[in-house]
Amino acid sequence: MQEKAIKIGNIELNMPFIQAPLAGYTDYPMRILAKRFGCPLTFTGVMLDKIALHPKILRKKEFRPHEDEHPVAAQVLGDNPQMMADAAEQFVQIGYDLIDLNFACPAPKVLRRARGGHLMQQPGFIREAFLRTREKVRCPVCMKIRIGFDASEASEADFWTICENAAADGVDLLAIHGRTVQQKYRGKADWTRIAQVKKRFGQLKVFGSGDIMDAGTAVSRLNESGVDGIIVARGAVGNPWIFAEIRGLWQGTGLAQEPSLEEQGHLMLEHLEMILADRRWQKAIPYFRKFAAGYCRRHPERKKTLLAIMAAKTEAELITVIKNTYGLH
Ligand SMILES: Cc1cc2nc3c(=O)[nH]c(=O)nc-3n(C[C@H](O)[C@H](O)[C@H](O)COP(=O)(O)O)c2cc1C
Repeated sequence: MQEKAIKIGNIELNMPFIQAPLAGYTDYPMRILAKRFGCPLTFTGVMLDKIALHPKILRKKEFRPHEDEHPVAAQVLGDNPQMMADAAEQFVQIGYDLIDLNFACPAPKVLRRARGGHLMQQPGFIREAFLRTREKVRCPVCMKIRIGFDASEASEADFWTICENAAADGVDLLAIHGRTVQQKYRGKADWTRIAQVKKRFGQLKVFGSGDIMDAGTAVSRLNESGVDGIIVARGAVGNPWIFAEIRGLWQGTGLAQEPSLEEQGHLMLEHLEMILADRRWQKAIPYFRKFAAGYCRRHPERKKTLLAIMAAKTEAELITVIKNTYGLH
């Protein structure tokens, strides 16, 4: 029994496993489903600071937290420390509970504009963005970084400077994805490097990210690396049950029972319904398909089921396919 709550600033989490920011995935439906299965903290996908600085855009439902999903973090991307801080203030004003600054995104268009992962080469910028944000908001301020821009010695030195500053400045949570920016999502995450950060800066709250695809891996990474917490990313797509499974293993009560086929089908229909509430079906169907591979992984006839779901073209077809393949009547 290892059950131990953990605090990020003033926010208490009843387990140290949280859902990652995933652009194009972690909107309200994925966040609320994770919460339902016990995930104690979720993040939006990355949002450009300009969104928050534009009152008309900020009023859009998709950028606002919902009442039933707290605590939820807003992740901010930018290329100017003051603008990032101002954006953070706006996000807090509309109800987000934490701010997470993104210095990890490897998308070419983000790098070209000197945002996200590009900033791993500029420890001074990262420090300034954090300090200015800290001045603007009272809530916890977190940062998401990678283990370096690339594999060069200069990048490694920058990485350590960033961690050292984060520890000295009191960053509330340093989330580290164990790949370089240049690696994007290729290769294996380097958990040794993540573990070294926690060893060197014991007082800094470090959460690790990379290759957490199942509950067993999540719990063993926590125990082996000595970090404070684990971030579940691709492993949570179409798989909110992973949080209940993690909790069972972590608390020592064993892996939670596998959801029945009917339960899986009902949850998929519910997820689809939430997606349809915010989009017209022409957009909702392709969007839902992004979650289908994850959901189908638990189906005994995975491939056949996935193909049938991918082939459904309309809302009615998709609902019928899910009902038929998951035994719902
Ligand atoms: C499709 C996709 C979108 C992502 N979007 C974000 C994002 O908006 N912000 C962020 O900090 N990380 C983002 N990430 C990185 C994840 O949060 C995570 O750190 C990374 O996927 C490694 O974990 P994994 O190997 O367990 O998936 C994204 C990753 C993927 C695959």
